[in-house]
Amino acid sequence: GSSVVTLDDVSTGQILELLHQAQYIDAHRSTVAHICDGRVLATLFYEPSTRTRLSFETAMLRLGGQVIGFAGAQLSSVSKGESISDTLKTVSNYVDVVAIRHPKEGAALVASRAATVPVINAGDGGHMHPTQTLADLATLESRFGRITDLTIGLCGDLTFGRTVHSLIETLCRFGHVRFVLISPPELRTPRYVLDRIDANPTCSYTEVDDLTAAIGDLDVLYMTRVQKERFFNEDDYLRLRDTYILDEDKLRLSKPHMAVMHPLPRVNEIAAEVDRDPRAAYFEQVKNGMLMRMALESAVVGDALPGYEPLEAKEV
Ligand code: CP
Repeated sequence: GSSVVTLDDVSTGQILELLHQAQYIDAHRSTVAHICDGRVLATLFYEPSTRTRLSFETAMLRLGGQVIGFAGAQLSSVSKGESISDTLKTVSNYVDVVAIRHPKEGAALVASRAATVPVINAGDGGHMHPTQTLADLATLESRFGRITDLTIGLCGDLTFGRTVHSLIETLCRFGHVRFVLISPPELRTPRYVLDRIDANPTCSYTEVDDLTAAIGDLDVLYMTRVQKERFFNEDDYLRLRDTYILDEDKLRLSKPHMAVMHPLPRVNEIAAEVDRDPRAAYFEQVKNGMLMRMALESAVVGDALPGYEPLEAKEV
C-alpha cells in the first residue's frame, strides 16, 4: 500500500471502490472482523481530535488489528525536540500503517517521505483532511445517490477549514459541481483551492457573504467551525466566530431535501435544534467516517475483503 497525504494519491476509480467497500463492510461486519489480524496501526496525533483518532482506532480494532500511538505530543519524545522524520523512521519499525495529525501544513508529506510503511494524513494544519472527505463523499452518496451534479454551499472558515479544501479538491476531479463559497471577506477560499475549480470546466463557483440569500439554491450546506487554533490574533477570531449561525428559522428557507453537513466539532454555528431536522446529516458523516477508514485501512495494508466483488469486475 502507499501513503495518502491528499486524495490525489488515490485514483478516482479507487475512491469509488472505497465507497462501495464501506457499504459492504457495514453490511458484513462479522465477515471482516478478522481480516487485519496481526496488523498494527499507529495514531500519531500532535493536535486534538475526537472523531478522527477514535474512528481510525475503532476501524482497525473492528478489522481485528491492534493500535498504538499518542494523543498529544507532550508524553512522547516530540517534547524533547524529536523531528517528524525521526519519529516516523522509528514508528515504521513497529507498525503496518500510520495515521498522523499535525498542526503544520505539509507534516503528513514529510512523515510519508520518512516512513517505510503507508502514512495516512489525518489532518495537516489548514491544508487537507482526506479521510474526512471520504466520509463526506459517502454521506453525499447515501443522501443523493450521487456525488456530482449538486450545488454545494460551503460556509464559514474557508481559509483554514482543511475539510473544505480536501472536499473541493476531490469533487473537482469528478466534475459537475457548483460551489457557493459563503464566508466573510477575511475567510475566503485559498487560491490553490480555487485553481482546482477553475481547472475543471464542468465546475464553477461564486463567493458570497450572505448565507440567508444563498441557502435556498443549495442541495448541500456544508457548515464549518471558525478555526480558532489557526488565527494569529484573538480579536479577529472573536469578531468572526459567530458570523454564521444555522438555526431552524434559517433552515426554513432551504430546500426540503437539502443536506446539512459539518465535519464537527461544532461550536455555535449549528444550533442544537437543527439536529432533529431530517436535513441534518452530520452524525451520518461520523458513522461514514469509521466505515470509510475501515475500507481505507484494509486497502493500504493489502488485506482483501472476503466475498467482496470489486466494482470494476462487475462492470466488465
Ligand atoms: N472531523 C474531525 O476531524 O473531527 P476531530 O477533530 O474530532 O477528529
